[in-house]
Amino acid sequence: NTDTEVELMGKMEMLPIYQPREKFSNKGTFGHALIIGGSYGKIGAVMLSGRAALASGVGLVTTFTPKCGYIPLQSAFPEAMAITDIDDENITTIKFDIEPTAIAVGMGMGTDKNTHLALQEFLKVNTAPLVIDADALNIVSKHKSDLKLLKPQTILTPHPKELERLIGTWKDDFDKLKKAKAFSKKYKCILVIKGAHTITVFESKFYVNSTGNPGLATAGTGDVLTGIITGLICQGYEPLIAAVFGVYLHGKSADIAVEDYGYQSLTASHVIDYLGRAYLSLF
Ligand code: APR
Ligand code: MG
Repeated sequence: NTDTEVELMGKMEMLPIYQPREKFSNKGTFGHALIIGGSYGKIGAVMLSGRAALASGVGLVTTFTPKCGYIPLQSAFPEAMAITDIDDENITTIKFDIEPTAIAVGMGMGTDKNTHLALQEFLKVNTAPLVIDADALNIVSKHKSDLKLLKPQTILTPHPKELERLIGTWKDDFDKLKKAKAFSKKYKCILVIKGAHTITVFESKFYVNSTGNPGLATAGTGDVLTGIITGLICQGYEPLIAAVFGVYLHGKSADIAVEDYGYQSLTASHVIDYLGRAYLSLF
């Protein structure tokens, strides 16, 4: 199409985006991320997202999970504050008395009927910048009318299956991107189409990422990406910039970590641990 713009995002494109830390800053300067998700047996997804947000530079992290998440999170993720639902195994009402700078929702959350209702109510009242991933994507895909509740510049981070549930099947890559573009325009959202070459789509613009490797094809790396993007929004990056920069840093971290761990043994936690090196690689 004539109005389509495609940009390959490498280090040179990241340099003007990166915001250095100021000397006279404190944790309040870097925002407060709220990570909503988890269900019985899937609390790890929330922990990975929260730890990734923290490593991306956010000042404060709070997790919101079913009650069963409280002990594991408080034990294994001491930097975070944990608040919980009234239900032990699933999220049934998304209510909190903090004022997060940005929110991520969906990781390991499950698609229970009550969780759907809770998400719907939350989407109606939420005004904070939002990243929607995993089961929250699956829920809104099943109930397309929920998509109308999304505020402009909401970020959606589907993997191929989740994308198909959102926009339907495609004939070829060209058709896929055409449908993604139409979807982004219709709902004014930012689509992060994950894969070997992750493409961030906003209206008529396509940003093709240049980092990342097959070591990322392992459990939880998507949860880590969601945490990074959310953490960047908290630090003051515009949602579209946060998505593009977050995808770059996530892939770069994996590219550096793979030198130490190899493609087979790279884990989602390594991607978090190497984020600092990914930032340092910009200098
Ligand atoms: N090369 C480069 N990057 C890759 C490759 C590859 N071959 N394979 C995967 N990746 C990257 C993707 O771009 C994405 O950033 O790894 C990440 C994988 O994300 P997800 O597919 O969401 O994987 P995961 O985090 O394990 O998802 C956890 O949530 O979305 C649900 O169904 C999903 O149950 C799963 C859970
Ligand atoms: Mg995922």
